[in-house]
Amino acid sequence: MVKRKINLGSLRSQRWYGPEDMRGTSHRARSRQLGYSSEDFGGKPCVGIINTWSDMNTCHSHFKQRVEEIKRGVYESGGFPIELPAMSLGEIMVKPSTMLYRNFLAMEAEELIRCHPIDGVVLMGGCDKTTPALLMAALTMDLPAIYMPAGPMLRGYYAGETLGSGTDVLRYWADKRAGLIDQDTFENVVGGLSRSAGTCMVMGTAATMMSIAETLGLALPGSSSIPAVDSHHALMASATGRRIVEMIWEDLKPSDILNQSSFDNAAIVDMALGGSTNAMIHLIAVAGRAGIKLDLDQFDKISRTIPVIANIKPSGKFLMEDFYYAGGLKALLLRLADKLDLDAKTITGGTLSENIKGAEVYDNDVILPLDKPLYHEGGTAILKGNLAPNGCVIKQTAADPKFYNHKGKAVVFSNYSDLSARIDDPKLVVDENSVLVLQNSGPIGAPGMPEWGMLPIPKKLLKKGVRDMVRISDCRMSGTAYGTCILHISPEAAIGGPLALVKDGDIIELNIHDRELNLLVDRKELEKRKLKWKAPKFPASRGYTALFAQHVTQAHEGCDFDFLHFGKPTPEPLIF
Ligand code: FES
Repeated sequence: MVKRKINLGSLRSQRWYGPEDMRGTSHRARSRQLGYSSEDFGGKPCVGIINTWSDMNTCHSHFKQRVEEIKRGVYESGGFPIELPAMSLGEIMVKPSTMLYRNFLAMEAEELIRCHPIDGVVLMGGCDKTTPALLMAALTMDLPAIYMPAGPMLRGYYAGETLGSGTDVLRYWADKRAGLIDQDTFENVVGGLSRSAGTCMVMGTAATMMSIAETLGLALPGSSSIPAVDSHHALMASATGRRIVEMIWEDLKPSDILNQSSFDNAAIVDMALGGSTNAMIHLIAVAGRAGIKLDLDQFDKISRTIPVIANIKPSGKFLMEDFYYAGGLKALLLRLADKLDLDAKTITGGTLSENIKGAEVYDNDVILPLDKPLYHEGGTAILKGNLAPNGCVIKQTAADPKFYNHKGKAVVFSNYSDLSARIDDPKLVVDENSVLVLQNSGPIGAPGMPEWGMLPIPKKLLKKGVRDMVRISDCRMSGTAYGTCILHISPEAAIGGPLALVKDGDIIELNIHDRELNLLVDRKELEKRKLKWKAPKFPASRGYTALFAQHVTQAHEGCDFDFLHFGKPTPEPLIF
């Protein structure tokens, strides 16, 4: 039974539809132009459904169908659904990087919510940046909101082998570059990986962020683990539609749900999942929109105490479909119960504790016991030192342990074009102990901080069987990727961070246990280099890219725009 906290007259949409003036009449009449009578929209909560479907989003191809199921749920609960398309940010097709456009979608979704006659919103996302962007928008607007996760695609198969998105492509790509397989085999591997609608099915950024959204209490319990094409996914979509109408009457908003504990819970789950390094950036940005400060030190504190128990690629062995059959996120939350604040509120109107009642772990090989973890600490470690004064990240579970404590000579690439041009040059002075360094690939330098951080191993070393090296950059890497890749160095090279001062042959020291990353070059020498340093020319002087470069914050601050992070929402529009 829904406890109504608000009445019809105080619905936000009534500011458009209610008044008996010229504008109110016009809003009602124009809705009739769309084929809706006052029985459809009058006296009902209006639910915006932000749909990130497009022909170019390979992971959201089921959203055309799912949106109908959400609408059905809204109608069933006595609401009026309004579908609002938004930039879809398909990770594979959008260049130079969807990260450049995460803030664009966050702004677009915020404005869509603000300017339309809606009382609450369903957020349809999943493919990497769509989740944080939609959450950032909804938290800023603070209307009742539910996130509907796209869900992962089915497992990949090739020649009897189970394959994970990204992770196994990268492995086979290294084999192809080493001359071990031909193009036809590689095409077949990639073909075998894309079997259905849904997001990448390893614990990449999409699966991590969908799980985080559910942990934050912003999605229906259990929703984030359901494979995209499972009939339970369709059932979850209509249930989402029913629930948002109730939430509008209950006036249950993100600000009633989220607090510091919600974000600590999210960080704990991220560490236990062996989640994507991208989660650090996104969670900081999302928390900022809720007015909550998260920093990298807090993540590292949590990482020291939470073991990785999700045995999922790229850190582990299984895939998201296996995770669902093993009990999914609810089972993982149950296993972490002692570590979480189970009193945290959720969109159900109840607590996390109520949401995991009845949950069970069905496969202890997929969701491991706490005393038999995949790794004794969290999946991501935060490093600091003179090379990264504001911090950087490494997915320690996806790195070769022989590099946990390592010293090597830098091989420096000044940007991505330089890397592409020289990495396979037979004359490149490099060996398996070298440290590959990529500069000017951060939020401003690239721009948009693309996923170039898993720098390719030089072909001549691949042929010798080398499959991991220490790699350092100010960009990101795909959550599906692996290797000893130190990412998100802050401040970035393009604004004069110490990464810009590294030269070929400098010694770099990495110590994951002590969380240290240092350039072993004399301070005076670094000061001299800094005096000679010139900022690279920024590639765009107009449009959104120029706005991005002027206002994006650094990786350790979440890469939100400085005028939106912690900012107050723009006032409600005048309606006349
Ligand atoms: Fe969409 Fe990986 S490409 S989630």
